[in-house]
Amino acid sequence: MTEVATAGGGAYEIFIGRERLAERVGALGEELGERFANAPEPPILIAVLKGSTMFLADLIRAMPADVAVDFMAISSYSSNEATQVRIVKDLEHDITGRDVVIVEDIVDTGLTLTYLKRSLAERGPRSLCTVTLLDKSARRIVPVEVEHIGFDIPDVFVVGYGMDFQGRYRNTPDLYAVKDLARLANDPLLLVPGLFASAH
Ligand code: IMP
Repeated sequence: MTEVATAGGGAYEIFIGRERLAERVGALGEELGERFANAPEPPILIAVLKGSTMFLADLIRAMPADVAVDFMAISSYSSNEATQVRIVKDLEHDITGRDVVIVEDIVDTGLTLTYLKRSLAERGPRSLCTVTLLDKSARRIVPVEVEHIGFDIPDVFVVGYGMDFQGRYRNTPDLYAVKDLARLANDPLLLVPGLFASAH
């Protein structure tokens, strides 16, 4: 699955290349197309900002179906033992009676998705399901059902293809694994020269 990249002092490596991403996202688009083949109205795909935007863009182009799109932003912070999640940007659509698909980049502990599902279910959708590009199932704290999964991955920190470290590195076509997160935390620009060859 991996291919070692030399720049960046061995701090990262390609984890999932663009061709494999495109192939898997294409298959997920087909799966979702089939799921809603007989739906009375177009499903509403809800992307969680910002990490899932690139995935959403590719996913909906792979869906042979009429769809609507909306966005939500949430913030989560931990205090003492508890993690609090809240909505900082809400939907524009009324989802009552509609088929809704939550589009996530990564399901990690499951806390964010659990909160989102509860919040959206309260609004009375016709159906509610989730598609995630990546599932770090080994790190789950809260069990949560995920109907469509791109890749089940181990406990590794990834950047690229929409996913970030401190707001950086979202705009690479390939997905990278960070091999030394402590080093990156010390030097957040560490991967810039390697990932963006013309950067200086
Ligand atoms: P959860 O509530 O722990 O499931 O958090 C999921 C969110 O954490 C994702 O939507 C990402 O924003 C973030 N996240 C988890 N793992 C990674 C990673 O490896 N790279 C970048 N963001 C991550």
